Amino acid sequence: MDLDDEHEFARDAELPAQARTLWHGRFTGGPSESLLAYTVSLPYDQRMWRDDIAGSKAHVRGLARVGLLTDDERDTVLAALDDVSVEMDAGTFVFVDGDEDIHTAIERRVTELAGAAGGKLHTARSRNDQVATDLRLWCKRELRDVALRLIEMQEALLNQALEAGDTYLPGYTHLQRAQPVLLSHHLMAHGWALGRDVSRLLDTLQRLDVSPLGAGALAGSSLPIDPEATAADLGFARAFDNSLDAVSDRDFVAEAVFDLAMIGIHLSRIGEEWVLWTSGEFGFAVLDDGYATGSSMLPQKKNPDIAELARGRSGRLIGNLTGLLAMLKGLPMAYNRDLQEDKEPLFDSVEQVTLAVAALTGMIATATFVPERMQAAADEEAMAATDLAEFLVRGGMPFREAHAVVGAHVQAALAGTGSLVDLVAADPVLGAEAARLVAPGVGVTMRTSRGGAGPEARGAQVESYRAMLADELQSIRDFAAFG
Ligand code: ARG
Repeated sequence: MDLDDEHEFARDAELPAQARTLWHGRFTGGPSESLLAYTVSLPYDQRMWRDDIAGSKAHVRGLARVGLLTDDERDTVLAALDDVSVEMDAGTFVFVDGDEDIHTAIERRVTELAGAAGGKLHTARSRNDQVATDLRLWCKRELRDVALRLIEMQEALLNQALEAGDTYLPGYTHLQRAQPVLLSHHLMAHGWALGRDVSRLLDTLQRLDVSPLGAGALAGSSLPIDPEATAADLGFARAFDNSLDAVSDRDFVAEAVFDLAMIGIHLSRIGEEWVLWTSGEFGFAVLDDGYATGSSMLPQKKNPDIAELARGRSGRLIGNLTGLLAMLKGLPMAYNRDLQEDKEPLFDSVEQVTLAVAALTGMIATATFVPERMQAAADEEAMAATDLAEFLVRGGMPFREAHAVVGAHVQAALAGTGSLVDLVAADPVLGAEAARLVAPGVGVTMRTSRGGAGPEARGAQVESYRAMLADELQSIRDFAAFG
């Protein structure tokens, strides 16, 4: 197109009359199709319908308590909200063009059902405090649910740890064999990380347990509303103290999305290990058929797709966090429409973590380990090197010197001078007693210190792991959950 050409702007068709906006009084024209297409959030925020109805019911009760609604009006609007709830539940709720978001859709329907009284629902309320209230209620339910699922995964890890008995495998640093560790110790290591995730979710839940309802568009209201009473009605621990902060604070979304990204990173690390463990090279674990996939072309394949996707999708969880933080960073007080962009990353992160935890929990719970392969790898003679050095330390030799003595034997063994066990037995400072440390299965028993990888420390760890699970469940129960 020639830039000099006069270009006539083609206005989109106007919406049907039924799609009247919430702000029609100030406007002579209706919204354009492209505006609606670009600004609509209904496709994803309709999942907050329960929370929107709960928030509206508490608001209506609050308005009646301070005389802004009569008892009759209150009951009419509450009944309409219940009807909407039934329609939503049954999937019979009909959305219309112009239902920009779930708040608009529900208020429209309530007005249809309740007549004039429905027009009072939005008294002393803005979608700005409404959406913040809904989202906090949604988080209270969903984050609690994620925490419960994580606990199930921790339990699956514990069960496999208990099943594993004294099976050991190489512990790695730099993915090089380092020292033998009990399989139970390795499995519980991941469970402890998930425990921190649960505790982070609980911290986030405590901090987000503040009701923004009553903050209005940004400044509160001239009407005699009682935000503390509606906060209590909704099961929030407290009400906001600053209306500007109340409508613009999305720290809780950022925290939640961080918590979920961190969970994703833990799941990704588990995924990476299982990809290795199930490979022919390691052969440490075999997946149950229900938790593995085959190949369309290679008949022999059994692939760990769950583990790979747990690793791959963690990138998306990190993306959700960075996108959200970037969206938030330049916003002046108070509400800005940019904030609508808080929902998709949050919903997506919750959904993806929920799916990943369920699939990985099943994968771990049903997998079979191959102790022979694990133990053969851990029985490599050089894995005893640190125990040999510590043997010399017990005899009074400074560790640095002991390290060099044993290192020289390892080097000689690698050069083909003899097996490490023979070289150790022949060394007068080490001898037959030290050589016993090189024998298969001995190494793992040597790690006796608190929190260590051997059988002696395991009992105490299992006990504190169980205490962690009990604490987590108790904290979740104690948390005054919505609903
Ligand atoms: N859908 C909007 C959001 O998610 C609701 C609030 C709209 N407020 C407004 N002033 N336009 O943020």
